[in-house]
Amino acid sequence: MTHIAIDGPGGAGKSSVSKLIASRLKFIYVDTGALYRAVGYYMVSKGISPEDAEAVTAALSEVKISLKFTDKQELYLCGEEVGDKIRTPEISMAASAVSAIPAVRAFLLDTQRDIAEKNNVIMDGRDIGTVILPNADLKIFLFASAEARAKRRYDELIAKGSNVTFESVLSEMNERDKNDSTRATAPCIPAEDAILLDNSNLDLEGTADKIIELLEKKKAVNKLERRYKILWKLLAAPVRFLFGVRLKGKENIPAHDRLIVCSNHIGLRDPVLISSVYPRQLRFLAKKELFSVPLLRGIITALGAIRLDRSTADTAALKKAEECITFGQAVTVFPQGHRNPCVPIEETNFKRGAAFLAAHAKCPVLPVYIETKNRKYGLFRRVNIHIGELLPYEKLTENGSGYDLITKQIFNAIIALEKSAEEKGAK
Ligand code: DC
Repeated sequence: MTHIAIDGPGGAGKSSVSKLIASRLKFIYVDTGALYRAVGYYMVSKGISPEDAEAVTAALSEVKISLKFTDKQELYLCGEEVGDKIRTPEISMAASAVSAIPAVRAFLLDTQRDIAEKNNVIMDGRDIGTVILPNADLKIFLFASAEARAKRRYDELIAKGSNVTFESVLSEMNERDKNDSTRATAPCIPAEDAILLDNSNLDLEGTADKIIELLEKKKAVNKLERRYKILWKLLAAPVRFLFGVRLKGKENIPAHDRLIVCSNHIGLRDPVLISSVYPRQLRFLAKKELFSVPLLRGIITALGAIRLDRSTADTAALKKAEECITFGQAVTVFPQGHRNPCVPIEETNFKRGAAFLAAHAKCPVLPVYIETKNRKYGLFRRVNIHIGELLPYEKLTENGSGYDLITKQIFNAIIALEKSAEEKGAK
């Protein structure tokens, strides 16, 4: 089954774009907001305040919701189709209020998961990528400026004959955004591995095209990761044993990728050794010449290497690396460029590619130091891979966002790891 999760604030066009994608891909579109609206509507119709968590929770056992998917989603509340009755501004506010109640979220959880279990779905809401479908094939966080969203909702309501002003729609939108993103349970925030898509300047077709393109690319990335996982399970332990590799600073490996790993560069085997201790796939930039060596080509392709032409400023390779980061993968860069084991790190000139990537993808950097005796590899020589503390994007750019300044921060972090390894070794 393929699952697409679309989260984001109200009015970002989630439902229109999801409907369009569903019809193009022949998927089922699940509008989860309608479920919260139905609960809000039920409470209002029974004279229960949607803010009164206790009363709402007590009344939940009376709420019977079922969904039917024809060419659209039909929602039945206690046997009766609700239609547009749940689409008024009053019910929008009631839905927002009840959606902050944990019992309501728990009550609606299975309904949402059951549909996904049996179907290819595109599901929109606020917590689809974070809570309902944490393993979705593609997670999009769709957003647009509050003004752009309010304008869309205003046009929609006017077209339906509502008598609203733009100002009232905007202020209600701001209030709901605040409620939905600051509530304690399942707040409307992007999943760590969601792709942020700002569609302020994209129309409906353009947004759908973009998401379908992202789905195709993400599926290819997922396939590569699955293949990598199998290889890792087979080969990582033997590689660690054969080359005496130890991992230091395991606690610094973040739970999610979307980062750049920057390491000193000793030899050709660096990527393999780092990968042998890293629990998820790392993508590497490898010089294009390596792709012409028959056996090596197979290995580095399976490892997910990105082809780099070092004779030019290879923007295509950097673009590919940035795309991997967008898809939640970690990219490894050796800022020293050439392998230069004989020269101390302090005396090498760090290249700015990693800084360029970090600045463009606005992503953190994980510093790594490969320690081996005399900066050389040799049979039976131990290799320690030291993982440093993650440098968040904000920290990398605290002195300015110029590439030289970011490069300096990365350089300092790797040197600090080297110093601390030396100190520990001397003890
Ligand atoms: O998407 P919508 O405007 O129809 O959603 C109505 C309300 O329901 C919204 O204020 C937030 C809430 N909601 C939620 O908390 N979680 C979801 N998955 C979907 C909607």
